[in-house]
Amino acid sequence: MADNSKKSGTHSGASKIWGGRFAGGPADIMQKINASIGFDRRLYAQDIAASKAHAAMLAKTGIISDDDGKAIEKGLGAIADEIENGEFDFKQELEDIHMNIESRLGELIGDAAGRLHTARSRNDQVATDFRLWVREALVDLDAALKGLQAALIDRAQEHAGTAMPGFTHLQSAQPVTLGHHLLAYVEMLGRDRGRAADCLIRLNESPLGAAALAGTSFPIDRAMTASALGFNRPMANSLDAVSDRDFALEFLSLAAILGVHLSRLAEEIVLWCSSPFAYAQMPDGFSTGSSIMPQKRNPDAAELVRAKAGGLIGALSALMVVMKGLPLAYGKDMQEDKVPVFESADTLALCIAAMTGMVAEASFDADRMKADAGKGYATATDLADWLVREKDLPFREAHHVTGALVKLAEEKTVSLEQLSLEDMQSVSPEITESVFGVLSVEDALKSRDSFGGTAPGRVLEAVAEARKRFLD
Ligand code: ARG
Repeated sequence: MADNSKKSGTHSGASKIWGGRFAGGPADIMQKINASIGFDRRLYAQDIAASKAHAAMLAKTGIISDDDGKAIEKGLGAIADEIENGEFDFKQELEDIHMNIESRLGELIGDAAGRLHTARSRNDQVATDFRLWVREALVDLDAALKGLQAALIDRAQEHAGTAMPGFTHLQSAQPVTLGHHLLAYVEMLGRDRGRAADCLIRLNESPLGAAALAGTSFPIDRAMTASALGFNRPMANSLDAVSDRDFALEFLSLAAILGVHLSRLAEEIVLWCSSPFAYAQMPDGFSTGSSIMPQKRNPDAAELVRAKAGGLIGALSALMVVMKGLPLAYGKDMQEDKVPVFESADTLALCIAAMTGMVAEASFDADRMKADAGKGYATATDLADWLVREKDLPFREAHHVTGALVKLAEEKTVSLEQLSLEDMQSVSPEITESVFGVLSVEDALKSRDSFGGTAPGRVLEAVAEARKRFLD
């Protein structure tokens, strides 16, 4: 059991910041459950920036003196240095980053520190800091995703003409190119970046000055602090400003969707690296060995990226459930908003970096992929399309004829290409020699020349477009 002896009744233990009406300090366990300094210290830079903006506004509007404003500004600068140099003593009894900084400011500059919190509450303070933090996280995420897209686009260019089997139901369906396959992920990541950009636009309003929940009686200038912090405008409603965390939910939603995208690519890497496929090999730097089976070369990094989608989805549900049913305005429940967001941002940074490395350094076995691309009667659709195009058969009938040809090839254990013209004509007398011009993997690829299709020429065009759309 934790030591609960320091329960109450010790006047000296009451918080210097909010303890005026308290006779005793908190029980140890209360302090432990209440404190967020263990994780919200990550908001220190945002907290200092927002406090500087607030102090400058208080001085400009005459709510505090210029001298106090300057002292606060200087003291906050000194605290930033202390934190960055690892010299700051974070104290659990001061609960959170906001009170740790304010208390240290008092030690450094004396009474003026007590004026910083005029016309402000920790409620609008934390909402402001957290928006600033998520804003930066979105910018970093966008840059990381752009790097991953660049790696994918480079490999897509290199493999614009490399055939591989395309699957539906994980059954060979039609040949595609590896370049086309990789560009599919470039598109998904492009939409993930779009979601991040949308989130950023909605997020970028300032809660500062909403105070505890109702606004303030001081003549503050919210537009001034909003613009100093790079926000587009002050939030219009003080209750909303301190009580919603939809920006964090949007961040976690896009993180979860992105996690799902990354997990699908990760799964494909795992499959491609498995010996029955053997389409790809990860470099040593992204593989691990087995302690018992010396032949093993495990794609652990890809497996972990695949798994980490679980944590990302979990983080989204965690905060959704925290927020659900909370009455306006602030509730301490909302302190639980930070860990899922911090962890998701960290997880994504790691996963995207690992994925970028794997994509950039994977080696592909083009011969093996090409051999598989022709297996499983993967050009059967091309045969059906030929019957429609050349012999004017309705597609459904062509589908039926082709099915019969596949069955015949199966019986003879040959590929479609290996059936003789006579064999083919035994099923459909109108088939002519020219059918053999559409049955190879190369022909199948080249023919899929519709916009967005897998023909190597189209893929090269798509590579050039993707560079313009995503990397410029
Ligand atoms: N650490 C708190 C949080 O993250 C700061 C806000 C505290 N506000 C309050 N009214 N107790 O939510």
